[in-house]
Amino acid sequence: MKPGKFITLEGVDGAGKSTHLDYLTDKIRSQGVELVVTREPGGTPLGEKLRTLLLNDPMQPDTELMLMYAARAEHVAGLIKPALVRGAWVLSDRFADASYAYQCGGRGIDAARLESLEIWTLSGFKPDLTLLFDVSPEVAEARRSQARAADRFEQEQVDFFKRVREAYLHRAEREPGRIKVIDASHSIENIRAELDRIMESL
Ligand code: TYD
Repeated sequence: MKPGKFITLEGVDGAGKSTHLDYLTDKIRSQGVELVVTREPGGTPLGEKLRTLLLNDPMQPDTELMLMYAARAEHVAGLIKPALVRGAWVLSDRFADASYAYQCGGRGIDAARLESLEIWTLSGFKPDLTLLFDVSPEVAEARRSQARAADRFEQEQVDFFKRVREAYLHRAEREPGRIKVIDASHSIENIRAELDRIMESL
């Protein structure tokens, strides 16, 4: 059987990922494809417990990076790869590019540390397509939901999100074939039209 496609969504908090995740979910399912929708950190019972710790408990940056990868190792082995092997598609709200952006860009951890974790836990496994919703940290801040309490990341200042954004864009420059940058300051209709075009190519 043809293995499924692995698609990830990325962007700073407040870029509008969640809105577009729902659109893409409906679009892919309407093609009659089995689609597994998941998220990081999380996606497995253990990963969701790690998510609660990561989003709420103060910790060292290195601890944060390693727990992200611990959750990711569970996620890839327990959910993502089995789904792809049986021919399902997988849509994940964040994946490894988020560690590069948040832990290396935002927290300032040396990229070599992340690379060794990446080689160890992923051994070259990558998404087929990554949609990077790019927006200025100021616009993202204004959009972030005021309805619920901010988690540990959302409480960071604008400078943190500037570094996160730069790191995301740097990664996209290095892998233009996989990472498609979408200007998330555009209207929802424009973004949907762009998503339709990108999805055609898959
Ligand atoms: P997010 O995906 O924004 O979920 P929600 O919309 O429910 O807030 O929250 C996850 C947070 O985790 C986000 O602030 C980014 C952070 N994160 C990292 O710092 N590194 C990672 O590797 C991943 C996957 C997420």
